[in-house]
Amino acid sequence: MKVLHPVAGALALASILAFWLSTAFSEISGNMEMIRSVKLAIPWGLPLLIPALAFSGFSGFRLGGRWKHPAIVAKKKRMPVIALNGLLVLVPCALILRQLTLNGDFGATFYAVQALELCAGALNIVLLGMSFRDGLRLKRRIGA
Ligand code: HEM
Repeated sequence: MKVLHPVAGALALASILAFWLSTAFSEISGNMEMIRSVKLAIPWGLPLLIPALAFSGFSGFRLGGRWKHPAIVAKKKRMPVIALNGLLVLVPCALILRQLTLNGDFGATFYAVQALELCAGALNIVLLGMSFRDGLRLKRRIGA
C-alpha cells in the first residue's frame, strides 16, 4: 500500500495533466487534425486514469482512514470531490466530445462541453496536486 499509493497518485495526476495539456495545446494550435486525434485518444486513456484514481483513494483511506493529521483530513475531504468531478463531469465530457468528433460536429455544443471539461479538469489537477504535495510533506520529502 505504502509503495503503490503514491505510484497510483502520480499516475492519475500525470495522465489527467497530459489530457489537459494535449487538449489545450491542440485547441491553441487550431489544427483540426490534432484536435480530432486528441479527442479520440483521451477516452482510451480512461481505463488507466480511472483505476489509478480509484486505487489512490482506496489505498489512501486504508493508510490514513483514522488519521487526525490536518493534511490527511484535507486529503480525505478532497477525494470525494475529485472522484465525483471525474466520474460525473470529466468522463461524460470526454465521451460526448469523442462522439461529437466522430460526427464531425465542431459547433457551439462541442466548444461548450470542451470549455466545461477544461475547467473541471483544471480543478481536478489542482486538487490532485494539493493531495500529492500533502503526501510528500507528510513523509517529509519536501519542506513545509
Ligand atoms: C488521489 C489523490 C492522492 C494523491 C495524488 C496522493 C499522493 C500521495 C503521495 C505522493 C504520498 C507520499 C508517499 C511517499 O512519499 O512515500 C502520499 C502519502 C500518503 N497519503 Fe496520499 N494521495 C492521495 C489521496 C490520499 C487519500 C484520500 C488519503 C487518506 C484518506 C491519503 C493518505 C495518505 C497517507 C496516510 C500517506 C502517508 C503514507 C505513509 O505513511 O507511507 N492519500 N500520498
